[in-house]
Amino acid sequence: MERREYKQEINITPELQARIDELLSHYPADKKKSAMLPVLHAVQDAHENWLSVELMNRVAEILDVKPIEVYEVVTFYTMFNQRPRGKYTFEFCRTSCCTIRGGEDMIEYACKKLGIKEGETTEDGLFSVVGVECLGACGYAPMLQLGDFYHEHLTEEKFDVLVEDCKQGKIKLD
Ligand code: FES
Repeated sequence: MERREYKQEINITPELQARIDELLSHYPADKKKSAMLPVLHAVQDAHENWLSVELMNRVAEILDVKPIEVYEVVTFYTMFNQRPRGKYTFEFCRTSCCTIRGGEDMIEYACKKLGIKEGETTEDGLFSVVGVECLGACGYAPMLQLGDFYHEHLTEEKFDVLVEDCKQGKIKLD
């Protein structure tokens, strides 16, 4: 299978370094690893929402840990991305309640509509579809997260409207 290579420019700006220093200041100097999650969020936010291996290695240096310790965290949590994501990333819950209420069918519909497979991004860089674990909105299944917002009781019609609103720039992400 062909594996696409993605290049990422690493840029620890003075602003990002100041944010990292502030996060590290909450922990003892010999326990920098404790700041792993907030530091990864800050670094990812400053790098177009994804973390290359090189960037994870840089985080390992910052936290004084082995690179594998950073890889373990990044590969465990779906909120960290190991490849570029679309501007609009549909994070579909694929846990029990959503699955029972048609979540799998919604993922299939979204992928077909956008012409991509789960985990992929459209050619124009606009949309990605990913499956994630329970987002705590089980009573509103099936649902997805887009940016900081939940879209609940999904139907194909609602998804069509959402995609159209994204294309027209009507959707706020945070
Ligand atoms: Fe989907 Fe909990 S099972 S939000």
